[in-house]
Amino acid sequence: MVNVAILGFGTVGSGVADVLTMNRDLIRQRAGSEVALKYILDVRQFPDSPYKDCFVNDFSTIENDPEVDIVVETIGGATVALDFTRRALNAGKSVVSSNKELVATHGYELLQLAAEKGVSYLFEASVGGGIPVLRPLTNCLAGNELSEVRGILNGTTNYILTRMIRAGLSFEQALKEAQDNGYAERDPSADIEGHDACRKICILAALAFGRHVYPDWVPTQGITAITLADVDYANSCGYKIKLLGRALKMDGGKVCAYVAPHLVSSDNPLAGVEDVFNAIAATGNAVGDVMFYGRGAGKLPTASAVVGDVVDIAKDVTAPKRNQWAAGDADMVQSPDRLTFRWYVRANGTMDAARSAVGDITPLARGGAPASEVAFLTETMTQEDLNRKLAGMDVLSAIRVLG
Ligand code: HSE
Repeated sequence: MVNVAILGFGTVGSGVADVLTMNRDLIRQRAGSEVALKYILDVRQFPDSPYKDCFVNDFSTIENDPEVDIVVETIGGATVALDFTRRALNAGKSVVSSNKELVATHGYELLQLAAEKGVSYLFEASVGGGIPVLRPLTNCLAGNELSEVRGILNGTTNYILTRMIRAGLSFEQALKEAQDNGYAERDPSADIEGHDACRKICILAALAFGRHVYPDWVPTQGITAITLADVDYANSCGYKIKLLGRALKMDGGKVCAYVAPHLVSSDNPLAGVEDVFNAIAATGNAVGDVMFYGRGAGKLPTASAVVGDVVDIAKDVTAPKRNQWAAGDADMVQSPDRLTFRWYVRANGTMDAARSAVGDITPLARGGAPASEVAFLTETMTQEDLNRKLAGMDVLSAIRVLG
């Protein structure tokens, strides 16, 4: 028998309890032993819950119970969750987490601690919700040198952008829908400002390139400045606006990681990723391009990934699963300013003024645009070049274009 304790009975924690219960027989067969839910830690009371007998409110009950093999951390944040994760690992328990903030900020330390204690620290659910991506990246693609990992890493913002594109909803209306569906973080600014995607690209970069990449090192821009006008202009030239996280291995071994909205060509498979779905694409020197796709947020999809890790550990709790990367170093990170792109620009002014500032441009049009507004695509250039050329213009939007 393998005993599990869940920390936090929110969307993901309650989903984990449901999946362990709903698929109990299958999980027993696959793990080779019964996987029992022994405790749920939460400060709140749930007297009507089917799991009401499992609730405890003191972590030391779990920490000091030698029968607990696996602690599932779904608290979120990097304060209490960090303390409990350290204590669980120190007590010789494996930890499974969906907490991208914790992994992105303390993953190196926690993986070291898990290795020292001979237990596992797994976090498949921290990136891409229900999509199997971390294990395929580290195991199935282990024969490759990876040059890039990129993707739509946040379900809430992808849902918002899709609803703006498809239903013409305002940003606020679409955000409300995403929150009602349980996709958004407790504080949705982590979604819409790009911080959630930033944490996820840090984890992907660490696994792909072998060194911890901290969120503070990753320039991050969210979608709060995207308007229906930008969505319309993008649509007029065959592009969709998507929030992408990218991590690239540069010449000389440095890593360039950033999060920003992009105009993605309709020909690119990432453009077809809609609603709460996420997709992560990787490029390897043997495999070429691969893409992983599925539900990036939500109760049961995220619980699916958590329970997958639980089953993996439960197969043999004495054989820790290795998931390692080296310490980070700010010197190994390169700014995205030197990457080149075509750019979409919306500004107040005239097309003649835009041409004389930027050079060759492709003008764009949309119905209902004010007479003072221009929009265009530039030729390929770095952000530094673009900023210099646009210095005299009243710029409303400037977004990278991905072919
Ligand atoms: N708020 C996150 C999202 C949840 O929308 O993608 C999954 O990490």
